[in-house]
Amino acid sequence: MSMSNLEGLLIKIRDDVSPSKNDLEVLLSKEDKSELKTIFSFADKIRKEFCGDGIFLRGIIEFSNYCVRDCFYCGLNRGNFKLERYRMGKDEVLSSVAFLAGNNIKTVVLQSGDDPNIDVAWLKDIILEIKKRFSMAITLSVGERKFEDYKAWKEAGADRYLLKIETSGKRLYESMHTDMSFDRRIKCLDALRDLGYQVGSGNIIGLPGQTLKTIAEDIIFFKEKDFDMIGIGPFIPHDDSRFSRQKTGEALLTLKVIALTRIVTKNAHIPATTALGSLDKDYRSDGLTCGANVLMPNFTPQPYRKLYEIYPGKRCVDEPVGACNFCMGDMAKSLGRYIDYGRGDSLKERKLSQNV
Ligand code: 5AD
Ligand code: FES
Repeated sequence: MSMSNLEGLLIKIRDDVSPSKNDLEVLLSKEDKSELKTIFSFADKIRKEFCGDGIFLRGIIEFSNYCVRDCFYCGLNRGNFKLERYRMGKDEVLSSVAFLAGNNIKTVVLQSGDDPNIDVAWLKDIILEIKKRFSMAITLSVGERKFEDYKAWKEAGADRYLLKIETSGKRLYESMHTDMSFDRRIKCLDALRDLGYQVGSGNIIGLPGQTLKTIAEDIIFFKEKDFDMIGIGPFIPHDDSRFSRQKTGEALLTLKVIALTRIVTKNAHIPATTALGSLDKDYRSDGLTCGANVLMPNFTPQPYRKLYEIYPGKRCVDEPVGACNFCMGDMAKSLGRYIDYGRGDSLKERKLSQNV
């Protein structure tokens, strides 16, 4: 493809209200170095225009690794009896939040497995306490719950919710989540939006059975749902999961998906995910130069951090709490960017009035 044809295609997917699946598939299949450079720098320019040079931080606290689900790719799956399970206490969670606040971070992500023993009132109290003591945004990432639970947490002050679709193909989704319903997941995402949460979703790249076509559909799904944040990471096989013998997702394909998602969604927040930093090398800075604008430093204290083993080789498991924060400042600087210590609320227009 000539360079001007390639640029024409990039402009087309940028400007189309509904980008075509075929255009996205053609772009996802690009392997030529100079073509990839063109795609990545096009995405980087859009990131600069719509999100600026600041990199937002989301400090993550993984407060429970109990899970009732059986996702074929995930190390926390309920059938993994080798894994020692934990649930942090309220005071432990709050002292981790205090530490994170002391590092000047303005978003805490409270994440866990799909753990029904997380009582709605327990988490509500934590949200109220964080809002009372600190000035920060709260993102929840605790899986599929009842509408009433989502509502109670929102009313208590939670700002955002992360629930990845993992793959937007219903058949493919249900083939690796045998006791879950794709429609119910969509219902959860819609409910979160209706309740006024800033909603994050995302997918995994390199899942068995996934094709460039289904990835193109994921990107279209992200655009249609107009998510505030979209996390995209490579699949990393875990020994104690059903997908233990499957091959690792490719960094390059993941970067292409980040770039095309940036071009199509323009101002969604896109993290350079921890999974992208956990392959043969750390590809997070590559992610930040082809569309990503967010990093997620890990603030889970030991001994829990090493037990939140979604996939093996997860980076920073042995780092002291807080180390990621310094490391990220260096990463930003080396890219000629900077860490933005603001809350980093949604850049989507419907949210602007709520943020002032
Ligand atoms: N490889 C990469 N990402 C994974 N996740 C779960 N298991 C894996 C894996 N084996 C991602 C999912 C989940 C997030 C917390 O981690 O996208 O939503
Ligand atoms: Fe954790 Fe660098 S991001 S130590």
